[in-house]
Amino acid sequence: MTRMRFLTGTGIVLLLIGGAMQAYHPKLESPPVTAEIQAPDNVKQILRQRCYSCHSNETKLPWYDNLAPAYWIVRSDVLEAREHLNFSTIGAKAEAVQRGMLFESVNTVQLGSMPLPRYLAVHRDAGVTPDELATLRHYLETPPAQASAPAPAAAADTQFQHWIASNGKPMQAEPDMQVQPEWNGVPFLPEYKNWKPVSSTERWDNHTMRQILGNDIALKAIADGKIDNWPDGTVFAKVAWLQQPDGKGGITTGAFQQVELMIKDSKKYASAEGWGWGRWRGDDLKPYGKDAAFQNECISCHEPVAHSDHVYTMPIGGAQ
Ligand code: HEC
Ligand code: HEC
Repeated sequence: MTRMRFLTGTGIVLLLIGGAMQAYHPKLESPPVTAEIQAPDNVKQILRQRCYSCHSNETKLPWYDNLAPAYWIVRSDVLEAREHLNFSTIGAKAEAVQRGMLFESVNTVQLGSMPLPRYLAVHRDAGVTPDELATLRHYLETPPAQASAPAPAAAADTQFQHWIASNGKPMQAEPDMQVQPEWNGVPFLPEYKNWKPVSSTERWDNHTMRQILGNDIALKAIADGKIDNWPDGTVFAKVAWLQQPDGKGGITTGAFQQVELMIKDSKKYASAEGWGWGRWRGDDLKPYGKDAAFQNECISCHEPVAHSDHVYTMPIGGAQ
């Protein structure tokens, strides 16, 4: 009997706390949809259903997400997601930019980092189905309707090779430019330009938008098959370019966008899953972020591949 009363008491206290939490309910604004992404209806339909709750100005939360504390988490995810990619405004950008962003999107879905795994854990049927993924890929594999010819991959390759050969100097950079380390102290390693492309996951586009390079230690680990726990000293670089229209309806590699590094040091970077994370953006290679917390973004998005030491790239078949 006393036990019963105790339980009821606890229940009431919990209810009161739960109720009190609802009082703090900062508003989630829905700014107007100024320029929705331009894509066929079947593609938009999938994005609307799977991604718009975070990546658009048309957030519709299920009732249980409207309850604190879930609401606080979802709200901050939505605000951050909109900042990265907003399907309600991206329609104002060039078509090639929209396609480039869709390519990024499909890649994140394919590799399991989107929708956010912590969101899928709660919203079990919110994931992209294999059929939907196929629809998205099919759209991206089809050249834009008015294209006379897709940008020749060879030309983009030449451009990439040229970039490597030119020592990868970000376009207008001063030769004596001093690149600052990241906020977490991770240094910029200009020698990444001399590393080799690492054979990646299935290549289904013409790989003109990003390249993943590995240093000698990475290549040796690949050759030795030691890839589920990369040795200290392994470094990966991911280099990305923006895409731009080639004027003929196709897409060609555009301006240099950013370099990202992952430097393995299991002791030094123990608190960051054993990797030093860094991202340098733009022609002036400005360190990304406002403080060292930027790396949480990297780590959380690489979390789905924690089983492979947080590395996405699967060098099946060895280095090229
Ligand atoms: C629950 C909210 C949520 C959902 C649903 C969601 N995302 Fe995200 N997305 C985020 C957040 C938050 C970020 C910022 C990076 C991070 O913290 O992981 C992000 C980042 C991204 C990025 C990286 C953009 C950049 O800066 O390069 C892409 C691409 C992306 N999401 C695509 C998608 C796609 C495609 C879908 C639907 C299939 C989707 N997301 C669904 C929350 C979400
Ligand atoms: C929105 C999810 C997302 C975020 C945020 C993210 N990454 Fe990645 N990253 C990926 C995916 C997916 C790949 C696999 C290659 C690809 O598709 O581009 C990747 C690949 C890489 C690679 C090549 C090695 C590998 O794992 O394949 C490096 C280096 C890298 N990311 C660094 C970073 C750094 C540094 C940050 C933070 C500043 C970061 N990433 C944030 C999703 C993300």
